[in-house]
Amino acid sequence: MPTNSAAWMLGPKQRLQVKEAPYPKPGPGEVVVRNRAIAINPIDWIQQDQGTAFAFGWIKYPFIFGNDVAGEVVETGDQVTRLKVGDRVTGQAYAVDKNFANSAYGAFQLYTVLLERNTAPIPDKMSFEEASVLPLALTTAAAGLFEKDQLRLQYPGPESKSTGKTVLIWGGSTSVGCNAIQLAVAAGYDVISTSSPRNFDMLRSLGASEVFDYNDSKVVDKIVSAMEGKTSAGALAIGDNSVFRLLDILGRCKGDKHIAMATFPVPGKPKNALHTMYGFITSMISITIKSKLRGIKTSFVWGSVAHSPVGEAIYVNFLPEALETGRFRAAPEPMVAGSGLEAVQGAIDVQRKGVSAKKVVVSL
Ligand SMILES: NC(=O)c1ccc[n+]([C@@H]2O[C@H](COP(=O)([O-])OP(=O)(O)OC[C@H]3O[C@@H](n4cnc5c(N)ncnc54)[C@H](OP(=O)(O)O)[C@@H]3O)[C@@H](O)[C@H]2O)c1
Repeated sequence: MPTNSAAWMLGPKQRLQVKEAPYPKPGPGEVVVRNRAIAINPIDWIQQDQGTAFAFGWIKYPFIFGNDVAGEVVETGDQVTRLKVGDRVTGQAYAVDKNFANSAYGAFQLYTVLLERNTAPIPDKMSFEEASVLPLALTTAAAGLFEKDQLRLQYPGPESKSTGKTVLIWGGSTSVGCNAIQLAVAAGYDVISTSSPRNFDMLRSLGASEVFDYNDSKVVDKIVSAMEGKTSAGALAIGDNSVFRLLDILGRCKGDKHIAMATFPVPGKPKNALHTMYGFITSMISITIKSKLRGIKTSFVWGSVAHSPVGEAIYVNFLPEALETGRFRAAPEPMVAGSGLEAVQGAIDVQRKGVSAKKVVVSL
């Protein structure tokens, strides 16, 4: 049996330490992957800084965190039909999800258990570092756009037949945004998005028809003007204050008035869990009043499609072919912050400082 090791969090709010870890066994419908690259998400430093008692009370320490994996399949469980040993894949690691709450599914180790239905083969020409940028951001974007209780858009098919509707994606240069723009376009929607001007060209290259600077004081009026004559299919809120700007915009547009919130409405970078809770409650009071007055529905997006048909629609039916043909790109670009499990803590520190249209990645 191979020897496994992991970047463990031994207790709440502690820095990661590399130690041996059990070699995980795959259950039915699961595979074990030898990780070759893992990616970092904002949730990794949020969980480290604020602890997990508030929003992830089911996590028991010591624990192996991490959501994004790319590597080679080394073992397959019963009922695995699509993937085989040796396949190069990317997939979502579900350790922190309440339904798993198990370090065997964490990304920050050499061997991780993944669900076959949320794992996709990657093209030979794609590096593991590139592929690792996808899973959590792709899942979150897909959940926000396609879940029944979210924007409920039609799934991407083999061709992008125009629906004649426009989706607003606030925060298009985030990892979630880069995936959301491409998914919405592949599903046949026109996309209007926001970012800093330095990222306008990249967002257009991903398929956004118009991009606006979210720091422009007139951005709300400019997007309302751009929406004249268009029909809204709803909006995805990514980034601080995004939901408030979208409430101002959607209230003045025709069509579907639903905002799916990928970013929880907590202003700025809260210092601790209490500060987070206070910011959340005050924001929610304001969101509830504004959305009622303007006839807008809001919903929280949860970055999991483990038990949803959306998972299969994206990871099985769409992504493998779309990556192979170049119809879907692994974006944003990876920013490799080091190599080996010892580099994971430093990579989390890099992501905490902030990135612009880059995904922090560690090679393994
Ligand atoms: N609900 C879930 O399950 C779930 C899952 C994953 C992520 N998220 C949340 O989704 C958000 C994005 O995560 P990510 O990993 O995609 O982030 P990321 O890639 O680290 O985001 C970096 C980008 O954020 C943009 N940005 C900064 N402030 C912004 C604002 N106020 N409005 C719009 N864009 C802004 C920057 O754009 P410029 O450089 O162009 O200025 C930068 O490119 C985070 O709030 C994260 O916590 C939620």
